Amino acid sequence: MKVILFGASGMVGQGVLRECLLDPEVEEVLSVGRSATGQTHAKLREITHADFTDFTPIAAQLSGYDACFFCLGISSAGMKEADYRHITYDFTLAAAQVLARQNPAMTFIYVSGSGTDSSEKGRSMWARVKGQTENALLRLPFKAAYMFRPGAIQPLHGIKSRTRLYRAGYTVMAPLWPVLRALFPRQVITTEQVGRAMLAAAKRGGPQKLLENQDIAVLAG
Ligand SMILES: NC(=O)c1ccc[n+]([C@@H]2O[C@H](COP(=O)([O-])OP(=O)(O)OC[C@H]3O[C@@H](n4cnc5c(N)ncnc54)[C@H](OP(=O)(O)O)[C@@H]3O)[C@@H](O)[C@H]2O)c1
Repeated sequence: MKVILFGASGMVGQGVLRECLLDPEVEEVLSVGRSATGQTHAKLREITHADFTDFTPIAAQLSGYDACFFCLGISSAGMKEADYRHITYDFTLAAAQVLARQNPAMTFIYVSGSGTDSSEKGRSMWARVKGQTENALLRLPFKAAYMFRPGAIQPLHGIKSRTRLYRAGYTVMAPLWPVLRALFPRQVITTEQVGRAMLAAAKRGGPQKLLENQDIAVLAG
């Protein structure tokens, strides 16, 4: 299986990259980012690309892949809707539209989040924008598309968030994960589980298009 990964330098993406590189069924991972991941591995190839609203200049290099794991994303904290939408919706759809054209047999997996608003009409700005993004992705002609809606993600294997505020939060929270897991077992998941679930969905399909935290945990096995 050949995989394209967006957001490989981020917390979720690093976890997904790790699982992809460990999986013997994955022959190649192509990371597309604005900067290189800094990792080297026989199965890893990288493209650094500046304009995330236009992937047509690299379209030919995005051809021949079986799956895309789209882990690029930002926190909406302190952001205006237009700016958050630009990165969340515009970047994702710009990539997905090119990928759907180049790879009609592709499985596309998008990381949104628990609480995403499929109605696109709710009061929460981030949830509406993620809902618009999910709905638009589901209209594209991929072989299959799955929307992952994780709750709180515990980073494993030394993985760190790219967001400074979150990094500080994760350091404080580190000893609390066992408590959180015990109190909210259906809302907590690990980077390892997210990666394994993506690989399972790409290989064998998922139970439904929208996967909540618990569905992701089941798929991860
Ligand atoms: N962390 C959680 O607990 C959690 C829970 C539920 C859902 N999610 C969702 O999962 C996704 C990833 O979250 P994360 O925690 O992995 O975030 P993160 O650690 O901050 O990583 C974000 C990734 O997106 C890339 N990115 C951000 N802004 C970009 C831009 N303007 N242009 C190009 N690339 C950009 C970053 O690339 P650079 O390295 O170049 O900055 C990085 O690879 C988000 O959509 C988030 O909402 C996360």
